[in-house]
Amino acid sequence: MTNDSLSDATITREQFREAMGLFPGAVTLITAGEGAARRGLTATAVCSLTDSPPSLLVCVNAGTETCAAIRETGKFSVQLLSDEAEGLALHFAGAKGARGAEKFREGAWETCGSGLPRLGSALASIACEVTSDSLNGSHRVFIGKITDVRLAPERGALVYARSRFHALAAE
Ligand SMILES: Cc1cc2nc3c(=O)[nH]c(=O)nc-3n(C[C@H](O)[C@H](O)[C@H](O)COP(=O)(O)O)c2cc1C
Repeated sequence: MTNDSLSDATITREQFREAMGLFPGAVTLITAGEGAARRGLTATAVCSLTDSPPSLLVCVNAGTETCAAIRETGKFSVQLLSDEAEGLALHFAGAKGARGAEKFREGAWETCGSGLPRLGSALASIACEVTSDSLNGSHRVFIGKITDVRLAPERGALVYARSRFHALAAE
């Protein structure tokens, strides 16, 4: 690749955000830690990686408390939100001013076998052990080997695209 083609490939942050904003993303909460050390954030950068061994990949802003908690504990869980959970998604994104463990005052939180926070109303609650952790620009990419799954697929999923939330019907 020449220097010219490298500079041709450069786009602005706004162009990047506009393009990525067209990709519909399933809305999740990524959580880590236990008790008063629980941390969590709203995330759409979550995807399936492989079924052997069952693993998924998440991208977490390196400056967040949730990222620090994942790195400290080596574990995280992913809660796939249902179509009624828009308020919870905004809450965990910090839009209502909640920080740290106080975010967990909203939502029906339980603890799964591995000690990770689990949301009772989640369509899927997936616990993982970190097998890979790398820094890429502003975000860390964590690969997690799945250690526990609980499914409750009756409701539709919450999806984010074009700067707003959408409900995806279950049927
Ligand atoms: C729809 C939506 C999707 C988001 N996706 C991500 C994501 O994939 N990764 C991430 O690090 N932050 C994402 N965020 C931003 C975090 O939720 C936000 O920075 C959060 O307040 C960080 O919390 P903390 O600092 O308490 O850990 C998203 C926010 C929204 C509203």
